[in-house]
Amino acid sequence: MALNVVIMAAGKGTRMHSATPKVLHKLAGRPLLQHVLDRVAPLAPVRCVVVTGHGAERVEQLVEKVVGGAGVCVRQEPQLGTGHAVQQTVPALDDAAETTLILNGDVPLIGSDTAAALAAAAGSQRLALLTVTLADATGYGRIVRDGESVRAIVEHKDATPEQRTIREVYTGMMAAPTALLKRWVMALTNDNAQREFYLTDIVAMAVADGVPVVATAAHDETEVLGVNSPAQLADLERRLQRRQAEALMNAGLRLMDPARFDLRGTLRHGRDVEIDVNCIFEGQVELGDEVRVGANCVIRNARIAAGAVIHPFTHIEGDGPGDKSVQVGASALVGPFARLRPGAVLGDEVHIGNFVEVKNSTLARGAKANHLAYLGDATVGARVNYGAGSITANYDGANKHRTVIGNDVHVGSNCVLVAPITIGDGATIGGGSTIAKDAPAGQLTVARAKQVSLAGWQRPKKSPK
Ligand code: UD1
Ligand code: CA
Repeated sequence: MALNVVIMAAGKGTRMHSATPKVLHKLAGRPLLQHVLDRVAPLAPVRCVVVTGHGAERVEQLVEKVVGGAGVCVRQEPQLGTGHAVQQTVPALDDAAETTLILNGDVPLIGSDTAAALAAAAGSQRLALLTVTLADATGYGRIVRDGESVRAIVEHKDATPEQRTIREVYTGMMAAPTALLKRWVMALTNDNAQREFYLTDIVAMAVADGVPVVATAAHDETEVLGVNSPAQLADLERRLQRRQAEALMNAGLRLMDPARFDLRGTLRHGRDVEIDVNCIFEGQVELGDEVRVGANCVIRNARIAAGAVIHPFTHIEGDGPGDKSVQVGASALVGPFARLRPGAVLGDEVHIGNFVEVKNSTLARGAKANHLAYLGDATVGARVNYGAGSITANYDGANKHRTVIGNDVHVGSNCVLVAPITIGDGATIGGGSTIAKDAPAGQLTVARAKQVSLAGWQRPKKSPK
């Protein structure tokens, strides 16, 4: 069945009190509208038309970024209601697609299967409404039935006291035969309490035309919840996080507390992985078998191999896939309070301790930097011991330079390695050295003033007042 999809995203979102258009506010790290676009993708519509208005340029940029040429944006200015929004899409709808599905840009968790079922229920013959029964239906359009059959949707503001007792409501999502939809929306009027063109008025038109109107019930409330306020956004975030946490736990991931776990992207994990409380995972993260993550870690775009332990308060911040990501080798120990930046690649059994920052550097198997250190643009050999307080001076104020440290090197405490520089295999760098020239393999290199002791030296005395 060929399908058009319309996503209404022109509304202002007054109750968000924000300069950002409502549909660009983020849920689990992605804009609301991006969730809807992602959920539409499996339906493979021949046209995906997004109605923009408030913050149109920014919304259009997102559509371009997420679906590129597969999406069409039409502007609705001013915004005169949902019916008026769909009127704007009429020229963009493909007549060859027999069904048109209408979704909302601010209802992000609509299931792809529910949307597909709604479109299938409409086909080329019926008007299909997605409905839900709520304990409190205040504010929603009510489904008015005559026996079993749906007669109309009446907006809350236009409803009689008796109609307001109806708890079956319209979710804002529907599907209709394309040709009929076009005809109906062009015939809408704004003769109602809000002087708006209500899309919902097409229900009564369908009934008058003898076109069957069917109501499809949503699976659950969460998939039809819209975002109108910061509180609703936060509520939906918690629901989505709980869902994600449950799916991961069902696959064996051990979360110390699913209520204190946030995933803003995708997390792949092996067996016997344990995650303590208050961790945030962003982008694409992979955790191998038996990885343990301590409390309060933020981990973005990283691959952490089997048996590695990430101690509390560690910040891992890969910047996308590939060479901007962060990799941690098997059985490595990282943290507490470590920071791994883009391009940090740690081999197996590497140890990175507290207040150590690693950026765009490779550390071979068994290398250790346990305290208060910086490694930037460095290649570090196997079993290197990199002392407390040592840094690579990789930036000369204009360009970045590399530091190459051979295998089995021992860098003492408080050294400055001025790049570009190479330290040969097995070299030892004396503590407190500033090393600006290559240091040969196997030797001790020291670059600091010689220690002297002055016998008979006297401390100055306070002069009398
Ligand atoms: C709408 C339905 C109501 C339903 C409710 C579910 C109508 C007339 N009413 O009411 O029956 O119970 O959704 O949440 O459709 N939009 C535009 N252009 C406009 C107006 C709205 O693009 O001119 C977009 C909004 O950005 C939003 C969606 O359409 O994504 C729904 O608009 P909203 O104002 O929230 O409709 P409701 O009054 O809540
Ligand atoms: Ca609404």
